[in-house]
Amino acid sequence: INVAIVFGGQSAEHKVSLQSAFNLIEVIDRSKYHPFLLGIDRAGVWFLYPDFYAVANRRQPVPRATKNGVREVALVRKNGCVQVLDLDTFDGLGQVDVIMPVLHGPSGEDGCLQGLAQMLGVPCVGSGVLSSAVCMDKDICKRLLQHGGIEVADYLVLDRDHNVGFDKLVRKLGSPLYVKPANMGSSIGVSKVASPEALAAALAMAFRYDSKVLVERAVQGREIECAVIGNDYPRVSKPGEVVVKYDYYSYTAKYLDSQGAELKVPADLDDLTTKMIQELAADVYTLLGCQGMARIDMFLTEADEVIVNEVNTVPGFTHISMFPKLWQAGGMNGRELLDHLILSAVD
Ligand code: DAL
Ligand code: MG
Repeated sequence: INVAIVFGGQSAEHKVSLQSAFNLIEVIDRSKYHPFLLGIDRAGVWFLYPDFYAVANRRQPVPRATKNGVREVALVRKNGCVQVLDLDTFDGLGQVDVIMPVLHGPSGEDGCLQGLAQMLGVPCVGSGVLSSAVCMDKDICKRLLQHGGIEVADYLVLDRDHNVGFDKLVRKLGSPLYVKPANMGSSIGVSKVASPEALAAALAMAFRYDSKVLVERAVQGREIECAVIGNDYPRVSKPGEVVVKYDYYSYTAKYLDSQGAELKVPADLDDLTTKMIQELAADVYTLLGCQGMARIDMFLTEADEVIVNEVNTVPGFTHISMFPKLWQAGGMNGRELLDHLILSAVD
């Protein structure tokens, strides 16, 4: 089976994607799969990388220059199958049987790549167009969850022309507040604020990433995450817990400080709470139409309420990521997990 592992991409999570891709490239079972390493640079140009190149450059943005055997390519339908087409020679470099998206954030996790796959007629690991798009947009996702009777943190949506001041936000949502771009991941563009000055700076930053910004009530609680795989009958991992050493689980706490957060896998929870959280994660997955894989992030409050924070349809596979760790603890290593993901897309 020829697997196109697509990584990099145009979103601000480009570097996180490279870390995820590196781990997957390392574990893919080469006796079963032939991987095509397809890196998208920040401008949206697609390249086919020889193995060593992607490995050597795992922390760097995908470079634009075609050198050292890197070829500029496109995925096209040709002669009845999907091929990696060399854009210099127009030669087909091989047939693609399935796409493994390792693109986090907009233009990859949000239904765009999934739409391309659908138009080409090639299976793609993970959720389809609608579910990917819905889960990427924190506002739309919360609305659907609320409609399904699932508890989420209260929030307001602001656009660039908004006329809502700090006092009004605090009256509605309390203080501190979280400010988040609607469509982004890895906590990029996210701030926790407790003053009008900080709010102004936070909004300016969030609007750099999206024209729609959420201002959210800060939930007091433990950060709990579940990994889910499967299609019609989702399988839910044991819950894991993130214990953050910063004020919140920021980009720095995740990726820049190796001691920034501790992952407890599984989380120290009683059986009843574990079961309640797993059932909720499965409900969220089904309600949002997720397929293949997702990580459901939640808060567990002191009153034992579970509040859904967000859903990630291309969860991180980096060395600090919860998704692979949860499955590893459940008896499925990275190689087996990827195997499972690919097969559930191809079946
Ligand atoms: N958006 C990052 C990659 C995650 O959810 O793990
Ligand atoms: Mg996210």
